[in-house]
Amino acid sequence: MCGIMGYVGDRDTTRIILEGLAKHEYRGYDSAGIAVIKDGKISELRTVGRVAQLAEKVAAAGLTGDIGIGHTRWATHGGVTETNAHPHISSDDRVVLVHNGIIENAREIRAELEAKGIKFHTETDTESAVQYLGYVYDGDPKEAIVKLTARIRGAFALVIMFYDKPREIWVARKGSPLVVGHAGNEGFCASDPTALLEFTHDVWFMDDDEMAQITREGCRFFDFSGAEHEKASMHLDWDAAMTNRGKYPHFMLKEIHEQPDVVAHTLLGRVADDAVDLSRELSWTPDEAAQWKRIHFVACGTSHYATIVAQHIMETFGNFEIRTEVASEYRYRNIPTGPDTLAVFVSQSGETADTLHAARLAKSRGAKCLVITNVRGSTIHREVGDALITPAGPEIGVAATKTFTAQITILTLLGLYLAKLRGELDPNTERRLVSALMDIPGKQAAMLDREREIELLARDFADARGFFFIGRGIAYPPALEGALKLKEISYLHAEAYPAGEMKHGPIALLDKELPVVALVPKNELWEKTISNIEESMARKSPIIALATEGDDQICHYTRNVIFTPETEPELFPFVAVVPLQLFAYYIARQRGCDIDMPRNLAKSVTVE
Ligand code: F6R
Repeated sequence: MCGIMGYVGDRDTTRIILEGLAKHEYRGYDSAGIAVIKDGKISELRTVGRVAQLAEKVAAAGLTGDIGIGHTRWATHGGVTETNAHPHISSDDRVVLVHNGIIENAREIRAELEAKGIKFHTETDTESAVQYLGYVYDGDPKEAIVKLTARIRGAFALVIMFYDKPREIWVARKGSPLVVGHAGNEGFCASDPTALLEFTHDVWFMDDDEMAQITREGCRFFDFSGAEHEKASMHLDWDAAMTNRGKYPHFMLKEIHEQPDVVAHTLLGRVADDAVDLSRELSWTPDEAAQWKRIHFVACGTSHYATIVAQHIMETFGNFEIRTEVASEYRYRNIPTGPDTLAVFVSQSGETADTLHAARLAKSRGAKCLVITNVRGSTIHREVGDALITPAGPEIGVAATKTFTAQITILTLLGLYLAKLRGELDPNTERRLVSALMDIPGKQAAMLDREREIELLARDFADARGFFFIGRGIAYPPALEGALKLKEISYLHAEAYPAGEMKHGPIALLDKELPVVALVPKNELWEKTISNIEESMARKSPIIALATEGDDQICHYTRNVIFTPETEPELFPFVAVVPLQLFAYYIARQRGCDIDMPRNLAKSVTVE
């Protein structure tokens, strides 16, 4: 939700800001803007649309600066207009800033300042912060920010420049992500650490209630009372090349293709000799594990669907009482939670506000909390305590793909490890599943070899009115994920149902224009799902089947079949998700959609 970039140094400031913003575009892309200070004067340019449009404006204006800040917006308060785009500047032209988050008491501050004669120009909540700063600033940036942070409520990552301080940038954080870096005589700040990788791998993740001054000489950190403190940096092991599209036309396609490697990396160091061992990351004892009577999996969107996969898999071999909850609901319900609860929070970004707040709640209720995230150093990682990091590398496409696969891999390992700690895991099950997991990269690669077949199928269905996805048991959660991928990037209505539930209502929607994607692996529920396929056919719905290789009978029902490699029944989601992602990708491509940056979405959802 909005991306921020700031630079202090001797290189071409506007180029560095624009390139940094382009890396943040997945966080918001309805408008963009930049501000620089040169010769003691603040200049800014803003535009509705993408960073590329901003770059054209910057080039046309020949904008340069000694220091600079930039922003790419996902609108919350105020429409998508050039006026509402960041940076925002105080009426007296002395302070300029960019903001990610929501200032909850913006109206109140605005009324107070307007009563003092300060003129507002935008509909945004952010303007209240910059006008307030302009009002209190008397030459000491730190003191002004201390006053501002005491006055505003809500979530913010703020990056600020003062007209008479042309060699420093100030940042302040509460609730929205912000990372700071320094290398040689250059200082940087960004919403996403991947934007800093080409400059440095050692960064400081800003904490809540913390501010910093960034200069060519270094970074200094303060709390919101203005007291200075030392802060340890964190090393990022991601490679800058991972943030490029390479030979692929879209990040999403690249990330789909990375999945075999992602599974292999996720298993690395966590399994050996057909056994799972997470003791290097989790110092849990058998006694501790035995006391957890219930497991709560809490997440949003695709990460939530990964936890439903985990629930289905874990129920096959463990004696667990599992709940899977959407984080935005978990927070506001009175779900019994305490020391007998293991609460697992899954978030690719580690910044999702709903998941973060849910984790804080569970922690305050005494639950044992574990986080599964793809971003080391993210807020959830730093706050929650125990963590398992998915080594999927940066995911840039807005629609999650490889991180889903990494999540289901690590969740399966977690389930096995937990059952083993509790003395409930049959060693044969462990051997069987670990060895099958080791085969997943090869099976996913085989699935990727069928890309062309899936592309052709997608072309045939690109004009459909919408889609139904059905599956039973272990085939249901990948159906949910397949439908989500399709609606996110192709804007087609897609709904997933447990196949047996169709007849209780949704079947009323079926007709010849509404295809049904049936996930029908060869397992004990095959016949039941076939009955549901028949029911759909009776309503004239075209059928696309995802079936197990060697299942010849499926061809009696439809000629639109995607065959998935045989695997252990529990691991069907690993092979099913790849063709479903490709299907969504090619439908969206056929429909000319903006695949990596679908409308209305942002990669990291840092507002509630
Ligand atoms: C779907 C998607 C979203 C995210 C959700 C949670 O493709 O990307 O549904 O899964 O916003 O995000 P994280 O995992 O970062 O907490």
